[in-house]
Amino acid sequence: MRQSSLVVVANRLPIDDSIAPDGACEWRRSPGGLVSALHPLLRHAPATWVGWAGGTGPAPALPDVDGVRLCAVPLTADDLRDHYEGFANATLWPLYHDAVEQPQHHRRWWEAYQRVNRRFAEAAAAVAEPGAVVWVQDYHLHLVPGMLRDLRPDLRIGFFLHVPFPPPELFMQLPRRAELLRGMLGADLVGFQRVQAAHNFAQLVVKVLGLPATDRRIGVGDRVVRIGAFPVSIDTAEMAALAARPDVAARAQRLRQDLGRPERVILSVDRMDYTKGIEQRLKAYSELLAAGHVKVRDTVLVQVAVPSRERVGQYQVLRERVEREVGRINGEFGRVGEPAIHYLTQPFDRAELAALYRVADVMAVTPLRDGMNLVAKEYVAARVDDTGALLLSEFAGAAAELPQAYLVNPHDLEGLKEGLLAALRAAPADVAERMRAMRAHLHTHDIRAWARSYLTALNDTGALVERLTSGGESARLPAQPGRSAARADHRG
Ligand code: ADP
Ligand code: G6P
Repeated sequence: MRQSSLVVVANRLPIDDSIAPDGACEWRRSPGGLVSALHPLLRHAPATWVGWAGGTGPAPALPDVDGVRLCAVPLTADDLRDHYEGFANATLWPLYHDAVEQPQHHRRWWEAYQRVNRRFAEAAAAVAEPGAVVWVQDYHLHLVPGMLRDLRPDLRIGFFLHVPFPPPELFMQLPRRAELLRGMLGADLVGFQRVQAAHNFAQLVVKVLGLPATDRRIGVGDRVVRIGAFPVSIDTAEMAALAARPDVAARAQRLRQDLGRPERVILSVDRMDYTKGIEQRLKAYSELLAAGHVKVRDTVLVQVAVPSRERVGQYQVLRERVEREVGRINGEFGRVGEPAIHYLTQPFDRAELAALYRVADVMAVTPLRDGMNLVAKEYVAARVDDTGALLLSEFAGAAAELPQAYLVNPHDLEGLKEGLLAALRAAPADVAERMRAMRAHLHTHDIRAWARSYLTALNDTGALVERLTSGGESARLPAQPGRSAARADHRG
């Protein structure tokens, strides 16, 4: 088994299998923020990515992707149902997103969660070279840091949560709250998107485990675990370069033509998820149409909603409701050849997404709760000429970094309508000033800056940080210092 000095462990691998037009099986980049963030980063790094390839049964042997070794962890049908669809996406996901849907609890799901976390920990232990850095990602794998520390005390272990970490009163509902916290504390550094999330975590550790904690450090026996906020980002330069490409510009022009040359194009791009506020957005748009504030001939809404977690009941219900509402709005307000909403459920390649961002005069990103929301950042990065208005929910992590967006509370229907109208009618000079400020922020706060700050905090290994964040070619990484050095770092 080939071993690496950097191992990323995430539930999902950066590729999904799909069926090509000729019927052959092919691999494409999987949609979702975690993959979008990490995939560009790991290209050219001597890293292994441990994750699930989608589907059930034996793990497929996968080719390296852009130099990243892929190590697939197999899931059985029961694992898929009880770990991925159950504990991860029907217990933790809704609870972590303000319980906007009711979290469900089943003892069988917890057993699967432990079983699958152990399998991931064992897979990571097998591919990590002595003293390697292992970076565990997201809510599917809370127990992996603790399990890995038992298996491989020589490793430097990081954990990063891409989704919100809830306030204590919500987290306390979890029957297995103590085990989840202990699992995360197996890491040397626990990272969150927001300062508030790190604060919530510290409070819970004191309350549930009785450990000494501040918002930066937690004492766990003879170890010190560091915690902090590391807002994730995108490959800003890559998106900007893509959006500036002549073929993408030409595609954007064609899209505008195909949309009937409206004065204003509003775009939303989401996974089909109840956290994304799609229904609230449709309602706001429909009321603006009904009141005559927006006219179909002048303005179109393009809603991209790629299906997600399709066997989970709450997602099935959402999709039905969204599609019924899109049908109703188009039936009521559209005309022949002029729908009010262009509704697309397909995954697109990056160039097509960039063209869509370029054609959008207003980008409506209005989740009810979101850890970060990379779509908002991608849109900003793609607006290379400083045009375009970003309508952004206050409840997206991105709002803390992009205060120049047109901020709205998506729970407030009237506020949402006013925000949308303000963005549609904004003066070009105001739009440009806001966009310039947001682009400047993302220019410095890109995915490499994120990795740099996280990995520097995890372990001051100059070579590793340099290689990952310069985007250049790489040699092998030096072995990381052992545990005693790690302890000394943490106390420093
Ligand atoms: P989440 O991680 O909850 O899905 P984010 O907005 O953070 O939300 O990330 C979504 C990522 O998935 C973005 O990088 C976006 O470009 C990508 N994505 C969303 N919809 C599609 C689609 N239809 N085709 C391809 N990529 C998509
Ligand atoms: C969010 C989560 C990721 C997840 C992604 C797509 O970004 O934080 O961990 O991979 O959504 O969801 P999926 O269930 O398809 O992996």
